[in-house]
Amino acid sequence: MSDGSWYDADIERVIISEIQLREKIDELAKQVAADHANAAGGLLLVCVLKGAVMFMADFARAVGRYGPPAELEFMAVSSYGQGTTSSGVVRILKDLDRDIAGRHVIVVEDIVDSGLTLSWLLKYLASRKAASVEVVALLRKPDAVKVPVPVKYVGFDIPNEFVVGYGLDFGERYREMPYVGVLKPEVYTR
Ligand code: IMP
Repeated sequence: MSDGSWYDADIERVIISEIQLREKIDELAKQVAADHANAAGGLLLVCVLKGAVMFMADFARAVGRYGPPAELEFMAVSSYGQGTTSSGVVRILKDLDRDIAGRHVIVVEDIVDSGLTLSWLLKYLASRKAASVEVVALLRKPDAVKVPVPVKYVGFDIPNEFVVGYGLDFGERYREMPYVGVLKPEVYTR
């Protein structure tokens, strides 16, 4: 951190630096590309907004270097409110713009915590008859081990703390940070 940006003062510690993000995303893209080299019709990357927006942008460009052709789709669902705990309620705020039947789908997720969002989303995509659906999640929290949904590609396992940055927010803020960090406790009580 410490590039002098306003958010540095609110961050207790950096969990994943920009360099670590870049290297890991390249690694994930290589794996996904190798596993889907012969995917008919290429890949359909489905980004789950808004948290995965930075990851999608970097991951898609990395896949572009290694993989079969990829198309980009965006969905928005809501599972968290203004707080830091899962509500368990998933709502579609923005649906897919096209038919995914017969397509090889990679769901691009920011973080798997309780897994409620993901398990709901996978059922939804399966009901739309994709040829295959895999998940690439940048971050995974410990509770995710209890989740009965397969996440084939995981960037980083992180501690059970609320993190922000690189797309992840607290009350819609901190998404623009280029690294992932933990907020200072006083930020929550402001
Ligand atoms: P889950 O349904 O509990 O797995 O949570 C999924 C969604 O909650 C993620 O896609 C994030 O948008 C959000 N979320 C979970 N943990 C965090 C966090 O530590 N910081 C910011 N958002 C989080």
